[in-house]
Amino acid sequence: MTIEITMPGSVVLVTGAGAGIGREIATWFARADAIVAVNDIDPVRAADTAARICADGGHAVAFAADVRSDDALDDMFARILTDLGRLDVSVNNVGMMAGRKARAFLDTPLDDAWAVIEQNLHATYRCCRAEATVFARQGQGGVIINVASGEATRPALGLASYGAAKAAIVHLTTTLAVELGPLGIRVNAVAPGTTYTADVAAVIGQEQFDAISRSTPLQRVCEPDELGRLCVVLASDLARCITGQLILADAGAHLGRLPLRLPERED
Ligand SMILES: NC(=O)c1ccc[n+]([C@@H]2O[C@H](COP(=O)([O-])OP(=O)(O)OC[C@H]3O[C@@H](n4cnc5c(N)ncnc54)[C@H](O)[C@@H]3O)[C@@H](O)[C@H]2O)c1
Repeated sequence: MTIEITMPGSVVLVTGAGAGIGREIATWFARADAIVAVNDIDPVRAADTAARICADGGHAVAFAADVRSDDALDDMFARILTDLGRLDVSVNNVGMMAGRKARAFLDTPLDDAWAVIEQNLHATYRCCRAEATVFARQGQGGVIINVASGEATRPALGLASYGAAKAAIVHLTTTLAVELGPLGIRVNAVAPGTTYTADVAAVIGQEQFDAISRSTPLQRVCEPDELGRLCVVLASDLARCITGQLILADAGAHLGRLPLRLPERED
């Protein structure tokens, strides 16, 4: 038996798809034959991802918008529905620490903390609301995947606002799964562990990279395309009874950052 995931004609929105994990998620949906709406705040990045997908024989259209803005979101969803006709799947991927490094709670200016919460929780909340509204109107169910983080599940020093926002995204995911389930809308979250995007590569040195890799059971960090594969499976019919779940894609990092070496075996 061969199992193949294809979703021809399905329209999939990926936010923040101009780089990193979002770009790979968009690429993998296109490989599954979906029509991809590529969002990014940076129009050049959005256009670049869409062009790469089209050059590979896929179908993608760029929709530049800042997902933190209600007006920009209203305009983007109107354009998606006009240009692509419908929406079936959404991956709310925009997040991250807005370029900020880990900083002690007491040293973090409130404006910085609010910006992180705006970029992660508020943007995801807004997107979920707009997407659920479209799905409810279409009356044919739908799939929402929110991108959280391993930091949603455990404290991380210097990342109070980021961890709190990601944990809230997980809670939002479960609440929406319950509220929207009767409409046939599935809502799940994925939590990447350290994922080797261009930005991450630029920030962590070799020493830190090796230390993070050694601390996971799989002895490595994740690659951005691994999140793409996961989102396609989660959106597909193979996962049709899965909702309200958080799936950690982190090479096992959630199992503990302890020395994972067993004592030498005695004969
Ligand atoms: N990379 C990691 O190690 C890692 C680990 C855990 C979780 N995550 C999560 O994965 C998601 C993607 O992270 P990444 O590392 O690929 O990010 P990235 O910074 O590499 O790419 C993010 C993209 O989103 C765009 N963007 C930023 N703000 C936007 C806005 N307001 N509206 C629309 N687009 C916007 C950027 O222009 C960029 O192209 C984030 O939610 C992040 O928190 C990443």
